[in-house]
Amino acid sequence: MCGIVGYTGRRQAAPILLDSLSRLEYRGYDSAGLAVRNGAALAEVVKATGKLYHLADKTDQGRALAGCCGIGHTRWATHGDPSIVNAHPHVSGNCSGSGSGAVESDVVGVHNGIIENYTELKEKLLRHGYVFYSDTDTEVAVKLVDYYYKKYKIGPVDAITRTMVRIRGSYALALMFKDYPDEIFAARKDSPLIIGAEDGEAYLASDVPAILKYTRQVYYIDNLQVARVSPGKALFYDLNGDEVEMPLTEITWDAEAAEKGGFEHFMLKEIHEQPGAVRDTLNSIVKDGWVDLSQTGLTEDAIRSIEQIVIVACGSAWHVGMAAQYVMEDLAGIPVRVELASEFRYRSIPISGGTLVIIISQSGETADSLAALRVAKERGAQTLAIVNVIGSTIAREADHVLYTLAGPEIAVATTKAYSAQLIASDVLAIHMARIREKMTAEEAERLLGELALIPEKISRILEEKERLQWFSSKMANTRDIFFIGRGLDYAISLEGSLKMKEISYIHSEAYAAGELKHGTISLVENNTLIIGVLTQKALYEKTVSNMMECKSRGGYLLGITTNGNFDLEDSVNFTVYIPKTDEHFMASLAVVPLQLLGYYTSVNRGLDVDKPRNLAKSVTVE
Ligand code: G6P
Repeated sequence: MCGIVGYTGRRQAAPILLDSLSRLEYRGYDSAGLAVRNGAALAEVVKATGKLYHLADKTDQGRALAGCCGIGHTRWATHGDPSIVNAHPHVSGNCSGSGSGAVESDVVGVHNGIIENYTELKEKLLRHGYVFYSDTDTEVAVKLVDYYYKKYKIGPVDAITRTMVRIRGSYALALMFKDYPDEIFAARKDSPLIIGAEDGEAYLASDVPAILKYTRQVYYIDNLQVARVSPGKALFYDLNGDEVEMPLTEITWDAEAAEKGGFEHFMLKEIHEQPGAVRDTLNSIVKDGWVDLSQTGLTEDAIRSIEQIVIVACGSAWHVGMAAQYVMEDLAGIPVRVELASEFRYRSIPISGGTLVIIISQSGETADSLAALRVAKERGAQTLAIVNVIGSTIAREADHVLYTLAGPEIAVATTKAYSAQLIASDVLAIHMARIREKMTAEEAERLLGELALIPEKISRILEEKERLQWFSSKMANTRDIFFIGRGLDYAISLEGSLKMKEISYIHSEAYAAGELKHGTISLVENNTLIIGVLTQKALYEKTVSNMMECKSRGGYLLGITTNGNFDLEDSVNFTVYIPKTDEHFMASLAVVPLQLLGYYTSVNRGLDVDKPRNLAKSVTVE
């Protein structure tokens, strides 16, 4: 994980680096650091543990560091605890202590990713007299670059490519060399990195929102490339050290989209952006009442030849897969299995050319999902990525890409990207059903019409948020929560439970309602909160019965159901009604009150909603 930034130009670097880092804090926030240099002077390194404001305070908002060229880092610890010593930047010099202050080093660097063979490389460097002050893999990478740089006297680009050949793992690296004032060298493999260059200034960052305030002209540095960044300019090299041309892309979306816009938290803002995210995604793939997936390159023949679908993802994106499984099997009649990417990549799931592997990912950078995509391709499957971040690695490597148009999502707990992914998978299910003649044109039209009404129905649910806010205030001290449902309602429960636990730190689990009695019900005691999702007519009474089983053991019941099922009030303690839609699409509506419950519970408990402990938004480590 981690976020990296860089700047070189005519302005003071440190305030710009801090500002850019503040937009990357979602990538990690256990420590942060800057290295800034003033012309030919030595780089000055400052680090701080904890959130970014500690570093901002320590550097007087960056004013204490003079110089127009610098790199910065916000960390999510992988190797070594979150301490000053382990915080980045790391230096090549044999300094003792924390690596802070003016560093007498030839190379200073920041890194995002994991160097898997760092132990072996460290031993080699120790034999050559290098001294290590941190526990990080990054320090090894920086020192290895320094080793080749000095041994062969080959210049930064070649020293970096030699290092890239030796290291295994993933990385986005930004390095400054003492002999090259005003320049930053960068390299990447499987970790995101973009470079902006305009008008005598240049920027580096893990993600576009970090530099959008400064430039819209962006290069997406390719895997296994090195970049040489100087004021207003970036040159690119392949592993042989040969220069390669990279296209400059203009970012068209608005920087405003990455700001809080009057909401107390990004999460609340993003919950409210769901009608727009769903509408934009729908409008990009449903044109004149008909599905148009030409942007993906997935042909009708390819859809006809699908024998099975394997959906692979992590976290909430996996929950989208769980919901999509019910919808795709039911509408298109194609066997669908849903796998966690971290499991899929190490299993031997039978896959053939008739398998369509769908990777769902907001960031398009999740390490396990990316690895799963590569495994699927190696095994000969067709691959389709449902991705939110344009130009991300998964989007670039998949055979076909269906972009969700949720815009930048900042809160660690996903909301609008989840909703956009759901709608994209619903449209895909309808399209596949239609192409495979499992559905008439009239039925497809009816279902697409239902989808078109979802944004407005989400807005209606949002208008009633005060009720959920009130309920959350009553349950802020609850110890355990069980989310239960059957069928699609189980898939929705999975997401509701994750939203609750990840931001409120209340223990919660999701269970298929019929499975509770096989063990879990023994955990139900007085006032254990049971949240039942009841949107599927055929399963409604069965889930109500399971809820009653909990009530008779002391459970306190909240039921989420569709308008009209007023008899639920006779059985449960608190009822939340949502508008009706076709049952296949209920997840898009039922998830909204569950997101709000998680959000308000976290607020009531005084927690950091947007940056929950131990988590990061983009998980680019295994
Ligand atoms: C992290 C995020 C989740 C997200 C998951 C997968 O755990 O906190 O919100 O669902 O990663 O991320 P992706 O970017 O692949 O959707």
